[in-house]
Amino acid sequence: MTDSISVLATIKELRQTVGDWRAAGEKITLVPTMGALHDGHLSLVKLASETGDRTVVSIFVNPAQFAPHEDFDSYPRENEKDLEQLAELDVDLVFMPPRDEVYRQDFSTRVTVEDLSEGLCGASRPHFFGGVATVVAKLLNQCRPDVAIFGEKDYQQLLVIRRMARDLDLDVEIIGGPIIREADGLAMSSRNAYLSAEEREKAPLLHQAISEIAEALSNNVTTGDLLNKGRKNLTQSGFDVDYLEVRNADTLAPIEGRVKGQVRIFAAAILGKTRLIDNIAVPTPRK
Ligand code: PAF
Repeated sequence: MTDSISVLATIKELRQTVGDWRAAGEKITLVPTMGALHDGHLSLVKLASETGDRTVVSIFVNPAQFAPHEDFDSYPRENEKDLEQLAELDVDLVFMPPRDEVYRQDFSTRVTVEDLSEGLCGASRPHFFGGVATVVAKLLNQCRPDVAIFGEKDYQQLLVIRRMARDLDLDVEIIGGPIIREADGLAMSSRNAYLSAEEREKAPLLHQAISEIAEALSNNVTTGDLLNKGRKNLTQSGFDVDYLEVRNADTLAPIEGRVKGQVRIFAAAILGKTRLIDNIAVPTPRK
């Protein structure tokens, strides 16, 4: 492991260090991650160092957000490489707690954010947002940052966390960082590592599909046929489409017909064994 970056494993040490910074009047930004860091995460870390005086990155693969049949055991764990990458950036501290530091044996609390958690990813992964909201509430409590940053690739997650922080009166500003894409458009994700070479070639079609729909909606085409055609094309290319939907960007209310206001297209599809998600803003429709 690299020794050029400070790594803490206990809540007590985290509180002590961050508490000293806070007492000195410094602004603290937290970037929660599950590790297996890619350029998308690193862009959030860079945003954090522009936002505050001290940047804390947490790395914790959170068991509470995986269902028993999901990939908790096989989720990529690359701690050494992650620390090397973070050591190149302006990071003050990495918080890497072991599982039992976060969840005691008799841990029995779960944070539920109703409404925003219910459609899209919440429909096929009903356990997911409760697990995310629970661990993020804990991380925010443990670190007490002024700002916490999350990627817009998990846009529904970002809204759920923002609502949770507001509803629980947590004194933190939640900021979203833009999606970082590979050169061919595929949104960066730790799970892209699961794709075979053949699947990796097809994977950018998901971004292509939502981009084409966004472009058409901004030209005042209505939603219905576009989405049906998009689903059909993706299915024919080998994707198992979970959802392809147009939603209000703040409330996630479904949009039908002509779009107006802040609108995004959301997609999730399985390619082989890999569940890919993506989303894109619809440019303001031309009059
Ligand atoms: O987006 C992630 O990596 C995780 O869901 C998060 C927010 C770190 C919670 O475990």
